[in-house]
Amino acid sequence: MGANAIPSPGTRWRRALVAGALGALGVTTALSVPVPADAAASTLGAAAAQSGRYFGTAISAGKLGDSAYTTIANREFNMVTAENEMKIDATEPNQNQFNFTNADRIYNWAVQNGKQVRGHTLAWYSQQPGWMQSLSGSALRQAMINHINGVMAHYKGKIPYWDVVNEAFDDSTGGRRDSNLQRTGNDWIEVAFRTARAADPAAKLCYNDYNIDNWSWAKTQGVYNMVKDFKSRGVPIDCVGLQGHFNSGSPYPSNYRTTLQNFAALGVDVAITELDVEGASATTYANIVNDCLAVSRCVGITVWGVRDSDSWRSSQTPLLFDGNGNKKAAYTSVLNALNSATPNPTPTPTPTPTPTPT
Ligand code: XIL
Repeated sequence: MGANAIPSPGTRWRRALVAGALGALGVTTALSVPVPADAAASTLGAAAAQSGRYFGTAISAGKLGDSAYTTIANREFNMVTAENEMKIDATEPNQNQFNFTNADRIYNWAVQNGKQVRGHTLAWYSQQPGWMQSLSGSALRQAMINHINGVMAHYKGKIPYWDVVNEAFDDSTGGRRDSNLQRTGNDWIEVAFRTARAADPAAKLCYNDYNIDNWSWAKTQGVYNMVKDFKSRGVPIDCVGLQGHFNSGSPYPSNYRTTLQNFAALGVDVAITELDVEGASATTYANIVNDCLAVSRCVGITVWGVRDSDSWRSSQTPLLFDGNGNKKAAYTSVLNALNSATPNPTPTPTPTPTPTPT
């Protein structure tokens, strides 16, 4: 499973039948030579797959009946994140009563259309059901563990990446965000990851957050130091998700590639998990894609919605398709950037045989 299930870059090379003069002479032996793929890939998912990466989108269960929406989503993307349906309030609305109705709608739509699913999210201060919001101390700690076990058991072996913990750091100090989960003890994050590893050993376990893009920001350093500490102590963590909600207050930083590289150097995958860019500058989108492509452990990019009208920040028109489903300039710049990626590994061309004159 995982990004490696995406077709390999070798598929870019096609075998061409060269008959030429031999055919004119009635010689039926065809020579098989490689030629570069005739054209660049024409969808985001196929373009990303050329370098072994995925290109995903957030999907909302309530829109699966909208054919304009599903047509674009099915055509362009090969990874899916449930925008809200796998969150705590959706999957455990009453304590110990799990409900996967809408989560499974998205999961089944994705898998039936040949896509993978990123799990989002198991432990978070936000979108907690009322019963969880009112818990504290050991009761909350135990409820968190029970929630992780219940959701991961339902999808065991089916979800390549799980956002185990979401948004646990404070925006300005670089320390932990105050929350009911944090107040159960500073070890809550590692307990969540250890629980998740035992629940589904096949899943890659991610820490996911926003405003960890700029290498010089305290929050980035706080998360970096936590991951470094986890790796040094053997706490199971496999990936860091950088949400990538870029806007005037949290702009795309020029050191983004450095941040991706530094996280990856700790021995984790990195992914851009919820990308949207206020105004959808084509240049900024291309820069972001190129930064991911430059880091071999950057496994894929997910945009946070299909059309601008689907966005949680629709007034910022931050996505790749407009409200009518038309491709925006940013779409073209993303596709072109993906298509100019160096295949990884680079296909080795077979030497062109010289026909032997008969
Ligand atoms: C957002 C959804 O897009 C909205 O529909 C919902 O009302 C609130 O959550 N960080 C995350 C995502 O990890 O789950 C959030 O999604 C956006 C910010």
